[in-house]
Amino acid sequence: MTDTKKREVLVETFEGSRKKVLNDRRFSLVNGHLAFEGVDVTEITKKYPTPVYVYSEKEIIRNIDEIKNAFSIHPNTKIFYASKACSVMQVLRAVKNTGICAEANSMFEVRKCLEIGFSGDQIVFNGVVKKPEDLEFAIANDLYLINVDSFYELEVINEIAERLGKVANVCVRIEPNVPSATHPGLVTAFHAKSGIDREDAEKMLRRIKEMPHVHARGLHMHVGDQVPEAEPFQKATRVMVEESMRLEKIFGQEFELINVGGGIPVPYRYDDGDPMEDYLYGGIDSDDFAKAIVEEVHKWRKDIQICIEPGRKVPSSACIMLTTVSCEKTKTNYDVEGNVQDLVEWKFVDAGYSVIGDSLHFGWYFHVLNASKMDQKHDEWVKIAGPLCDGGDYFHQGVDGEFYLLPPKTEVGDTVVFLDAGAYSIESQTVYNNRPRTAVLMITKEGNVELIRRQDTYEDMVGYDIY
Ligand SMILES: Cc1ncc(COP(=O)(O)O)c(C=O)c1O
Repeated sequence: MTDTKKREVLVETFEGSRKKVLNDRRFSLVNGHLAFEGVDVTEITKKYPTPVYVYSEKEIIRNIDEIKNAFSIHPNTKIFYASKACSVMQVLRAVKNTGICAEANSMFEVRKCLEIGFSGDQIVFNGVVKKPEDLEFAIANDLYLINVDSFYELEVINEIAERLGKVANVCVRIEPNVPSATHPGLVTAFHAKSGIDREDAEKMLRRIKEMPHVHARGLHMHVGDQVPEAEPFQKATRVMVEESMRLEKIFGQEFELINVGGGIPVPYRYDDGDPMEDYLYGGIDSDDFAKAIVEEVHKWRKDIQICIEPGRKVPSSACIMLTTVSCEKTKTNYDVEGNVQDLVEWKFVDAGYSVIGDSLHFGWYFHVLNASKMDQKHDEWVKIAGPLCDGGDYFHQGVDGEFYLLPPKTEVGDTVVFLDAGAYSIESQTVYNNRPRTAVLMITKEGNVELIRRQDTYEDMVGYDIY
């Protein structure tokens, strides 16, 4: 296929996905603009400065309902929302109101979960480095589980629990040695830094048996994030089940639970592609995830509690990021001899990688559209760049290489939308170039647009410095 033909096909495919977006449960067309949960997003940008993130409480609820329904095949399931995906307090509150529990990775994440109303026994604590003060806080607050990641950590837990006169409930995190077809940086069950060798689980259990202040509830794993197929979950669960059965026999003790972590993927691309070639297609849903796990667990016991720790799946599709076209130019690419190679239409928006870092650091694809001209065909090839003083601050993963599609009439002032931006984005914002971290809004389930986090101010920027 010639390059021209290939691009024609891509434009038509993108047209299909633009229509698909408009038929999605979250979106509609109002006055030619994109509306999110019925709210014209261009009206939002008139009231709040961009870049800005906008969450839908309804979509958070729908996503959690989807996970709950998927696990209705195993009623004894406890869902812990991995708060690292987004820990904005009102998002945590929306999650809490659905009745599920929370997972945390630092003392402050635990504190945020407690402050929003999760009780200690609704919180699981993960991480490869939990400092003694983090562990003391966790043990003092009687967390449901601390997933032990090393022999060193186990000794520290024991010492603290004994000093506090508490019993720390733990799971032993093992590495099931199962790879998956996600981004290499998101694989956590194969050659990973987390967990202990399966062969060491018996030794760890033996040590725990000698500790009156530590109680092992079961085993824990996490296969990876954005895992596009069910098989790794099934395989890894099989490993966990076999290991649990073996340990139960050795120690004559029944485990209370099995914790299988998170990893349900989200479709970021809106056309039909192969998830095994590109994990950004998502590939599986909550039902596939649940079936893979439950099928294996039921070969062991039907009454055991299954704990899951979904992160990304909960807030991702529940949020869009709005940014404004702030400048535009046409530039020529020359070869080193000065011959013209091609012309590039650059559209500059006010969000760079300090606002939505995954695009650069993980080469993540976000579906980008002109929300102000949502009714127009997106058939002009452009590069989209952010405002940061860094040559790398442009969006690298477009529709065709680094090129995105926008309507030819896209102009300064238009609102550009990044879909499915709700997971791991706000959490990794920086203030590079002293550009403020963004405000966050929520469209409540009643349909009100509420500010749930304000933008950084100049005073915030200098507020940490001692001068
Ligand atoms: C231990 C653990 N549990 C749960 C999660 C959440 O994963 P996801 O967002 O893919 O559901 C992670 C993510 O890194 C994790 O490391």
